[in-house]
Amino acid sequence: MTTDKNRVIIFDTTLRDGEQSPGASMTLTEKIRVAEALEALGVDVIEAGFAIASNGDFESVNEVAKLMKKTSVCSLARASHKDIDRAWEALKPAVKPRIHTFISTSPLHMKFKLQMEPEEVLEAIADSVAYARNLCDDVEWSCEDGTRTEEDFLYKSIETAIKAGATTINVPDTVGYTTPQEYKEMIEKIIANVPDSDKAIFSTHCHNDLGLAVANSIAAVQGGARQIECTINGIGERAGNAALEEIVMAFRTRHDMLPYDTGVVTENITKTSRLVSSVTGLAVQNNKAIVGANAFAHESGIHQDGMLKNAETYEIMTPESVGLKESSLVMGKHSGRHAFREKLKDLGYELGDNEFMSAFQAFKDLADRKKTVYDEDIISIVDENMQDNDH
Ligand code: KIV
Ligand code: ZN
Repeated sequence: MTTDKNRVIIFDTTLRDGEQSPGASMTLTEKIRVAEALEALGVDVIEAGFAIASNGDFESVNEVAKLMKKTSVCSLARASHKDIDRAWEALKPAVKPRIHTFISTSPLHMKFKLQMEPEEVLEAIADSVAYARNLCDDVEWSCEDGTRTEEDFLYKSIETAIKAGATTINVPDTVGYTTPQEYKEMIEKIIANVPDSDKAIFSTHCHNDLGLAVANSIAAVQGGARQIECTINGIGERAGNAALEEIVMAFRTRHDMLPYDTGVVTENITKTSRLVSSVTGLAVQNNKAIVGANAFAHESGIHQDGMLKNAETYEIMTPESVGLKESSLVMGKHSGRHAFREKLKDLGYELGDNEFMSAFQAFKDLADRKKTVYDEDIISIVDENMQDNDH
């Protein structure tokens, strides 16, 4: 049983951080299609772009802001009045606008990237958050490279942002460096040590450089975060961001261990994944969890036999729950008699025992030579066997 305090806000950044994947640029029309799909998917916040980055980005944030009926629309802005003004200008038509402003807080970023002293960074946080809050009631602040920030300075920065009016505090793992246990404890300690931490919602934003983005995001929620920033198919800078579909299905499938709820309509996951893949040109790897072509496909004879008896033997969630019509039993050299007979039935054939055995042998011989055996291959095997038996 869950209560509202276990409701996790899903902040989708496919159109901003996701678009920062090399080669993933989307046109305005494509961004609008994705935003509409995200609203139908039930995400809570759409980060539609970085309004100051280009006129195209401004226009897409602005158009998405006009179109969304119930979803919050957000634009990213650095800690500068010019950035924040541009974000606000683009967001004005939104039913629920959010300004997301950020600055780096790690020693490395402050010294080499910003070339600012820590005191100057604190002043910039106070000034930028207060400026944004003057324009918009919903202001998110992020400490870029948060997971490599010194503990005391992290607390001080977050305290400053909350005092200036930030309503969401995001602690990004910008370079995908943290581990689940470390990140969970970091969020717990922030909530315990920062004054007035109950005035803000804490958020996670994980990159996947070590393949830990989803695990880290879930750990942050276990530590008290109640917003997850993620993207469809996990697209994003370098190795990508935390994959929305994996997080949401982990909550749904392991609700016993992860009693968190989202507003996501999981049955829309597959079509949203396919749309994002087609507009970005980024193919989804076959073995990708939840949305990969093989996520609900079974080839080995033992697994296919189990599936035909009871799907729960080899599937922990149903294909229907993510919007797929059915699982697939892929016919290959590992397939057994049971699956072959079912396949023949699907194709409209009922063979006698002798015909069946010779067709099955011919299928196995072909499968040894050919990676994938298609329905047409099976049809011609059966036709040949039937003709042989007729003569
Ligand atoms: O990875 C990151 O730190 C970001 C911030 C701008 C939120 O994308
Ligand atoms: Zn990021």
